[in-house]
Amino acid sequence: MGFLKNLFGAKEAKFVEVAPFGSRYEVPSGETMLEAALKNGVPFPHNCTVGTCGSCKCKLKAGRVSALTDFGYTLSQQEIAAGFILACQAIPKDALTQVEVESQALDAPKAEAFKGRIAATEALTHDIVRITVELDRPMHFVAGQYANLKYAGLERARNYSYADAPDRDGRKQVSFFVRKVPNGAFTEALFNGQLNELPLDVEGPHGNFHLHPGTAPMLCIAGGSGLAPLLSVLETARKDRVKRPCAFLFGARTQADLYGLEQIQQIANNWSDTFVFIPVLSHEPADSNWTGARGLVTEFISKALPGVSLNDAEGYMCGPPGMIDAGIAAMTGFGVKLDAIYYDKFTDQSHAAKTA
Ligand code: FES
Repeated sequence: MGFLKNLFGAKEAKFVEVAPFGSRYEVPSGETMLEAALKNGVPFPHNCTVGTCGSCKCKLKAGRVSALTDFGYTLSQQEIAAGFILACQAIPKDALTQVEVESQALDAPKAEAFKGRIAATEALTHDIVRITVELDRPMHFVAGQYANLKYAGLERARNYSYADAPDRDGRKQVSFFVRKVPNGAFTEALFNGQLNELPLDVEGPHGNFHLHPGTAPMLCIAGGSGLAPLLSVLETARKDRVKRPCAFLFGARTQADLYGLEQIQQIANNWSDTFVFIPVLSHEPADSNWTGARGLVTEFISKALPGVSLNDAEGYMCGPPGMIDAGIAAMTGFGVKLDAIYYDKFTDQSHAAKTA
């Protein structure tokens, strides 16, 4: 009978098993692994469902999948080589597919919808502002996560990372760093002041980027508005008196693009172990008064923690995709293990919170 079915093209049932949940479910023809998981009540981490945020990243342990869109848009080449896929873009090809999701992602509070309004804006650089949003009730999140922001009429929510450390009782005021995107509807409205009057829909928390427990030295790299989640993570670690050597590389184009330096200094002064901060400028005029590091942040990784073996270090990166990809390549080249590199990839469309 099976022979006849196969002969006449009858579809073979396709099942997916998800560790660590121990869930097993069938994926109907034409559905993605994520769609079928959610229909079956499997708590698969997800957010955008269109392959840009990276929340549904998982490791393929058995079976093959076809990709609806190129995983390489969101995942690094190293991750793809290591077998990572995006469940929202994956169609199983075999009778049984086994994947594994990161278990720590489950510890975050469940995302909820909030009403909010902008209570304050502060220019940080010529194209980045801090916005503080007053919510209708306290929001709980894990340092490093992000929220979706939207106003009525905006087609698609925008994702911004929390810039503050979370509070045990939740935060009624949450702040985000927003970089101006040329012709971006949300940021144009924000920079024009129109958003000050509009109610906002805020949904969160989302994302898997967070500090992983342990004593491993931390190698942190931020670029652009990617400073927000790292400040949240580092401020939380400082408050918790985390005792780990930490190097923090902040990449910017010129001195005019540096910000948050006082806050970083405060964290450095009160860190419970070695804390090395290196701002690195890539486009600072050669004849300026800048005496600090010049070039690409990734060029300073090997010198960031003198005397510390990077084989045991963890990488934490937030910023533009090119910086993240170069950072992963450089860190792994210096001995950091791929599965000890965590990052949040910022694009103009979205940003992806992932664990390498
Ligand atoms: S849910 Fe799959 S990439 Fe966003």
